[in-house]
Amino acid sequence: IAQYLADYRPYPFLLDLTELRFDLAPRGTRVQSALHLRPRDPAAAEDLVLDGGAGLRLIGLALDGTAIPAPRREGERLVIAAADLPARPFVLSCEVEIDPDANTAFEGLYLSGGMFCTQCEAEGFRHITFYPDRPDVMAPFRVTIRSDLPVLLSNGNPVRREAGLAEWHDPWPKPAYLFALVAGDLVVISDRYTTASGRAVDLNVWVRPGDQDRAGYAMESLVRAMRWDEEVYGREYDLDVFNIVAVDDFNMGAMENKGLNIFNSKLVLASPETATDADYERIEAVIAHEYFHNWTGNRITCRDWFQLCLKEGLTVFRDQQFTSDLRSAPVKRIEDVRALRARQFREDQGPLAHPVRPDRYEEINNFYTATVYEKGAEVIGMLRRLVGDAAYARALDLYFDRHDGEAATIEDWLRVFEDTTGRDLAQFKRWYTDAGTPHLEMTEIWEAGSDGGRLTLDFRQHTPPTPGQDDKPPRVIPIAVGLIGPNGDEVAGTRTLEMTEARQSFTFEGLGARPVVSALRGFSAPVILSRQIDDATRAFLLAHDTDPFARWEAGRDLAISALLAAAQGRAAAGDHVEAIGRLAADEAADPAFRALCLTLPGEEEIAARLAAGGAVPDPDAIHAAREDLARQVAEAHAALLSDLYDAMAVPGAYSPDAGPAGRRALRIAALGLLTRIDGGDRAEVLFGTAGNMTERMAALSCLIRRGRGQAALAALRDRFADNRLVMDKWFSVQVTAAPPDRAAAIARDLAERPDFDWKNPNRFRALLGGLAANHAGFHAADGAGYDFTADWLMRMDAANPQIAARMSTAFETWPRYDAARRGLAQAALRRMAAMEGISRNLREMVSRMIAAG
Ligand code: ARG
Ligand code: ZN
Repeated sequence: IAQYLADYRPYPFLLDLTELRFDLAPRGTRVQSALHLRPRDPAAAEDLVLDGGAGLRLIGLALDGTAIPAPRREGERLVIAAADLPARPFVLSCEVEIDPDANTAFEGLYLSGGMFCTQCEAEGFRHITFYPDRPDVMAPFRVTIRSDLPVLLSNGNPVRREAGLAEWHDPWPKPAYLFALVAGDLVVISDRYTTASGRAVDLNVWVRPGDQDRAGYAMESLVRAMRWDEEVYGREYDLDVFNIVAVDDFNMGAMENKGLNIFNSKLVLASPETATDADYERIEAVIAHEYFHNWTGNRITCRDWFQLCLKEGLTVFRDQQFTSDLRSAPVKRIEDVRALRARQFREDQGPLAHPVRPDRYEEINNFYTATVYEKGAEVIGMLRRLVGDAAYARALDLYFDRHDGEAATIEDWLRVFEDTTGRDLAQFKRWYTDAGTPHLEMTEIWEAGSDGGRLTLDFRQHTPPTPGQDDKPPRVIPIAVGLIGPNGDEVAGTRTLEMTEARQSFTFEGLGARPVVSALRGFSAPVILSRQIDDATRAFLLAHDTDPFARWEAGRDLAISALLAAAQGRAAAGDHVEAIGRLAADEAADPAFRALCLTLPGEEEIAARLAAGGAVPDPDAIHAAREDLARQVAEAHAALLSDLYDAMAVPGAYSPDAGPAGRRALRIAALGLLTRIDGGDRAEVLFGTAGNMTERMAALSCLIRRGRGQAALAALRDRFADNRLVMDKWFSVQVTAAPPDRAAAIARDLAERPDFDWKNPNRFRALLGGLAANHAGFHAADGAGYDFTADWLMRMDAANPQIAARMSTAFETWPRYDAARRGLAQAALRRMAAMEGISRNLREMVSRMIAAG
């Protein structure tokens, strides 16, 4: 059954305190709760409804100490009739038994490698006990844990510790989704932090014994995040301890539970031998993200789950700012745009498109999407650009001031900007309510004149229909532009045009000669821009644009233009090959930036561009065209690439900082191209000598692409058989780098291995996600990729519906392909839809995808 935004009504009771007591046992954990409730309106006489989950065995229920023998059940809910409730404060006590060991969905309380842990967002707490499991019901928590395990953690501050017992108190009112408990045999690395106002905070990162040598980077990242949030947003931490725990079985990346963040171990554990530069950057960003939630998410939470982007979009925006400040802002922006296009544009253009703030869902876990997170962050970036940095800072201060301790909405969020700036944001709000990626078309009109020339930029916007939304009124689009003179000098610096109409023109006067337009600088809006531009002008922008994003984009467009021509059987001009060589040789440019420019667009990106232009992409032709272009670049610039490969070697001890990581990125980009012409010889040498995982994995991937990866794979497995995170990479690379016509077969073989521990979400994602990332392999013409994926999603759905539903997005692009592939994909989707006992999660996903047919 669907939930609707329009149906919101406040919970009829207020919760003053939640007391919980856990007697932990793997098969039979007892949970006792005491909820201190009072009617919101004593005159109203409302039923008390508590959410519950399938795994709860009710032992007893009492109101102010008097047993309620046979409470009413409505599905999984528990209802106490208004007639049985007093019109004054009361305590509802409840005891249930749950079975953490049987919990393979990893939602609620479960076991991971002998450790008890929890995941309650979005609606996991109801699998722990009966409760008003909704984000607008907030209370302080007092938690007692009884267990013989040595480490017993929950939210807030520790108040009591005795043999077999720990008690925690969290004074900050919070919804149940922020509850957490961890119990296990853990080791800790600790540090101490003093906040700007002088509060001493104990910082702990808890890991399994043996992992402590790989937890240092997470701790350093946490300290950087705490300092940054004080300096940039004026936000301080508010408890005596901050705990982070790494667990091996975790459905998502990490979770911001108050004072007790729980992480997928791959986002905590890192050493140069086991983690890549990208892993390090991600760890730093996610540690920061979860920490930043303490204010944007926890102190101010969401009124209901439709408002998810209120905390996620803002917190992603904040973690992006953090990474830009600590590393390279241009490189971070390009990486973010790349990810946005690969995941969010794809979502927006397919059957799963939905608004940043959805107004309907069946299963909220299906809406932790690139649209809510990444597009949600883009919307905030646009808002900031429109109001300016100073007004943004004032609006945020007002937001924290006005809504601290509340469960807020997007309307509340926009109102602080309206109140600070006097702007009317009614039209801007469409970015939250309307799905789909706007198409923006730019036309240039040049008029020469004796008093100087005049350039008019004429823009038209339109947003294609998305499921359930046919007509899209125009949006506010901030378009950052700059003008570059014919000699390469900038004649007009970046200025933001504010487009509000379906069609609108902007004029620049007094120009000496016709300039080249640098448009959508910094990717100032998440739109698809099209313009009349030839490859020579793109090459000019690639050489002269002062905006790094626009410069990169020009090179990107050149590559795409060559690839589209080749994928459609047309001859391509050589502009890309030539221009990219000049950029690679430009020693004034940051190596990380040059690496991004050398990396060709992925096959999925090319397919998406073709589809957006109304063509039917052919995965095999795209694959061939991309391979071919890579070989052309390598042949044309063999000497330069070889020099770069040697020159970018980083001597000395490994450091994950942006500088050395950028050099390695350029080195690896050169290696990837050179492998096309040296048979893989350099990769072979590098695999044997690399002192870090970044270069080792890059070399391995090159070797597999050349069909000579067997020895290296065996060596990696022998050395790291006990390291789950490295073995995940081992599984994944064999499928992502496999020849497309063999990818599904290789995945099938790997799935037979005893160490394919499929119930572990990371291992499952490594293999299934690896296949989905092999564009031509997943979309193999014989349907082997679709079938393999559907088989495993069905198996996974019975154990862990969240993971099955999430991975089913591999199919979300199916409508764009040819009739034969569409038929095969649809058959796979139908097979899943028809499965007996299919979860609500997977059912909602496959039915939305089938509906597009
Ligand atoms: N709030 C977490 C984060 O973004 C993600 C939790 C998602 N959980 C889920 N079951 N969908 O950091
Ligand atoms: Zn988040």
